[in-house]
Amino acid sequence: MTTKDAILDLLWQNTDTYVSGAALAKTLGVSRTAVWKAIEQLREDGYSIDSVTNKGYRLSSESDVLSESGVRKYLGAEGLKLLVYPSISSTNTLLKSLAEEGAEEGLCLIAGEQTAGRGRRGRSFYSPPNSGIYMSVLLRPALQAVDATSITACAAVAVAEAIEGLAPVNAEIKWVNDIYIEGKKVCGILTEASLDCENGQVNYLIVGIGINTRVPDSDFPEELKSIAGSAFGEKPIRELRCRLAAGVLDRLMSYYGRLTDREWFEEYRQRSMVLGQPINILSPGREPEKAVALDLDRDFALIVRTEDGELRRLNSGEVSIRPREERE
Ligand code: BTN
Repeated sequence: MTTKDAILDLLWQNTDTYVSGAALAKTLGVSRTAVWKAIEQLREDGYSIDSVTNKGYRLSSESDVLSESGVRKYLGAEGLKLLVYPSISSTNTLLKSLAEEGAEEGLCLIAGEQTAGRGRRGRSFYSPPNSGIYMSVLLRPALQAVDATSITACAAVAVAEAIEGLAPVNAEIKWVNDIYIEGKKVCGILTEASLDCENGQVNYLIVGIGINTRVPDSDFPEELKSIAGSAFGEKPIRELRCRLAAGVLDRLMSYYGRLTDREWFEEYRQRSMVLGQPINILSPGREPEKAVALDLDRDFALIVRTEDGELRRLNSGEVSIRPREERE
């Protein structure tokens, strides 16, 4: 381990107190100058380190560097291979090509920025630096394609729980798999599958999750301002993005291991913000269709009643909650 990594470890272990340069030097058997240099390198890497004369150094509560070692510190799940990038085009796109080359289940790409983030229905996903995590997990379940939707649904529950594990907020799920807090979308999930057409089995699944942790440095673009929000407020949370990534992965892998139990179905339902609400069914190239969301079935299909009284089961697609002024 380098002096830099060893110092980072010691700062991690002592986040409540300052550790003096002399103590760091003694513990690691290096000079005070070597300690000072390593601290400077860590700062260059983006770590925010408080220093107070006669007291020493402490990892600032504002420090929020996304790194593999940082995520690993909080990760319980075994069998995951993590690759962490400061910036990448799209974690889903890269993971897809790695999956095609035979990458194993459990490979997880995490990025601090995406330059070509992709959303559902061919849309782009705004993925600016320093304000979110963008991650994709490769799964190779022995599942029929029709059962694969449950993985997206349990990913939504995993994200909602992981966010609530770090801040006193109420994370809701907008069918199918967007996470909302106080009426703003803070996370989107894009699950992409490769199917075996012969037998309808899944070859692999890529679960792509993008979470806005903070308001971006230059705010959300105008067209997103009324829709997008951030999961966490101003209050600093030390190494937030590492904790969040680990929290999501732990929960996702745990639910994935017990997928058929569907024990999390009730939680998905409880968190659903559309049930009982007047909604618009949104279909590309068509006028929004008014309906009321009645229930979810065990396959996560949304049961709705349209304005002419027809009961319909939506397997996939998009709905929006009708604004107050559009309800009669
Ligand atoms: C949506 O809201 O439409 C889904 C957004 C999914 C975004 C994530 S970010 C990580 C992964 N890589 C991508 O390019 N997209 C997904």
